Amino acid sequence: MVCPCDWPEPVVRVQSLSDSGESIIPARYIKPPSDRPSLNSSPDINIPLIDLSGLTDGDLSFREATLKQISDACREWGFFQVINHGLRPELVDGAREIWREFFHESMDVKQKYANSPKTYEGYGSRLGLQKGAVLDWSDYYFLHYLPSSLKDHNKWPENPSSLREVVEEYSKEIVRLGNVLLEVFSINLGLRHDYLRNAFGGEDVGACLRVNFYPKCPQPDLTLGLSSHSDPGGITFLLPDENVSGLQVRRDQQWITVKPVRHGIIVNIGDQIQVISNAIYKSVEHRVIVNPNKERVSLAYFFNPKSNLLIHPAPGLITRETPSLYPTMTFDEYRLFIRTRGPQGKSQVESLKSRG
Ligand code: OGA
Ligand code: NI
Repeated sequence: MVCPCDWPEPVVRVQSLSDSGESIIPARYIKPPSDRPSLNSSPDINIPLIDLSGLTDGDLSFREATLKQISDACREWGFFQVINHGLRPELVDGAREIWREFFHESMDVKQKYANSPKTYEGYGSRLGLQKGAVLDWSDYYFLHYLPSSLKDHNKWPENPSSLREVVEEYSKEIVRLGNVLLEVFSINLGLRHDYLRNAFGGEDVGACLRVNFYPKCPQPDLTLGLSSHSDPGGITFLLPDENVSGLQVRRDQQWITVKPVRHGIIVNIGDQIQVISNAIYKSVEHRVIVNPNKERVSLAYFFNPKSNLLIHPAPGLITRETPSLYPTMTFDEYRLFIRTRGPQGKSQVESLKSRG
């Protein structure tokens, strides 16, 4: 494959387009009618809300009930929101607000971190390399936390001055929570309690953060902040903007708008868990809509298997009735395939099946 060394077209910061005050958006951001946000999402449905204190409280029946809630959410939704997750409320708010401050720094400051598609690290404005693609209405910042060999503080913003420290603490807590959920998912799937942790590489898991910045958009009905996609990795921990909703999750033929809960964290199953669970858990499609009056900041933390381990359905889940659905592939191989194409619905993991 050709080396993804540079962007196929000059990079335009969506924040600059938004700040220009134009009342119409450039044609590059206008989605075909079938992809535009519709207003048919049901206002009364939300993804499951789960109180994780049941995992640490000591009361066995509370623990069992919590495991069951998580199991149901993984099977039926692929998405849930957690509270009492162990991250201090000040840390949750602090992490989001320090990134908001970063995005409000001058363009010169941000441009110092402009990214390339080689590693995606830094300040970016597009995912995928397809020339002429319709673009999403967002900018982002991407950084690596684990493995520590990929962590490079010089690639993290220097300002605001406490950003690196806050991101360190937030990251450590997310990795802790990731390991807790790997154990819960293993138990719920009927596997050894450490099955998923080992399949992910134990101490050598990957963890990387994409902070999404969705500027105000004068024509939110014509575009999307992030096109429909499923997350390629293991588990995603999304810290949404507490005041502005925008995330929509596909449920049958409908798009459900997630209503964020204060200090809650949204958890979703990624493609690698769909593969290991042999599709007992689904990596569900989601997208982001934008807003004419409000910007939105979200932190998507991707908790991933070690990138060169072979990922395949757990042998304990393969039976004559439920044969293996996916070929064996490393996360590295899978990610390269995704990164070249950009966010494109659910076809990513599904198209693996035909390669199997
Ligand atoms: C993502 C994502 C949702 C959001 O970054 O993969 O789905 O609400 N983000 O920003
Ligand atoms: Ni996502």
